[in-house]
Amino acid sequence: MRILFLGDVMGRAGRAAVSERLPALRRDWRIDFVVVNGENATSGMGLSGAHAKSLLEVGADCITLGDHAFDQKDMLQYIETDPRILRPLNYAKDAPGRGAAVFKAGNGRKVLVAQVLGQVFMKRPFADPFSAVDQVLKAHPRGGMVAASLIDMHCEATSEKMGMGHFCDGRASVVVGTHTHVPTADAQLLPGGTAFQSDAGMCGDYNSVIGMEKTEPMRRFVTGMPKNRFSPALGEATISGLYVETDDATGAATRVEMVRQGGRLTPCGP
Ligand SMILES: [Fe+2]
Ligand SMILES: [Fe+2]
Repeated sequence: MRILFLGDVMGRAGRAAVSERLPALRRDWRIDFVVVNGENATSGMGLSGAHAKSLLEVGADCITLGDHAFDQKDMLQYIETDPRILRPLNYAKDAPGRGAAVFKAGNGRKVLVAQVLGQVFMKRPFADPFSAVDQVLKAHPRGGMVAASLIDMHCEATSEKMGMGHFCDGRASVVVGTHTHVPTADAQLLPGGTAFQSDAGMCGDYNSVIGMEKTEPMRRFVTGMPKNRFSPALGEATISGLYVETDDATGAATRVEMVRQGGRLTPCGP
């Protein structure tokens, strides 16, 4: 199976790049299943129902969220109406929606997607991500109940992401990090056949500070004083993520390539 994962879509520029490029990538790379992280797609903060719909219309099969899952208040209700949208497994005890789901790709093949929040350097304490993921993977063995499985590990620390990668090695097909908006250059197949990249990067304008128009973040860094609100940068976005091929019989990943297309970053892909 060919899986494409795209990192955090950042505001209007990110949405435009995804809708412009995803349909062609899906066709040209013969992608079977697409997962897009949408936690910043609406004004850089959360995801509205309308924008979720548009990401699904241009070719996402599943949208994951993150710590910004419910910044747009309509998502509190909208997530219950569309099972293709996932919030983190450990977001909160009473959070609406689901943190994991099984999807159908072509030829009846099943794909498990789950998202989880890390604990290191995060703004509030979240429940143990490792036991949450363990439970989901035990219930959905790779190559058994599902042909492939993908874990979106949403957190700050690369160490925690690598820990999750190795924790899932041999059990998930893909473990990919999100949240920092900066792609890491460590895409690899772990020894047990799990494709891994510490962070997928964002689909956003990289002439920015992690996707935000750079003036205000720089002012805060340099002077220590806030003046305006953050707003997403509006230059041409690079879409960033991960391309993975898996063996349908075993669920093991057999190939992994970093993806960057358009905008300012040097292009790469399969
Ligand atoms: Fe994000
Ligand atoms: Fe995040």
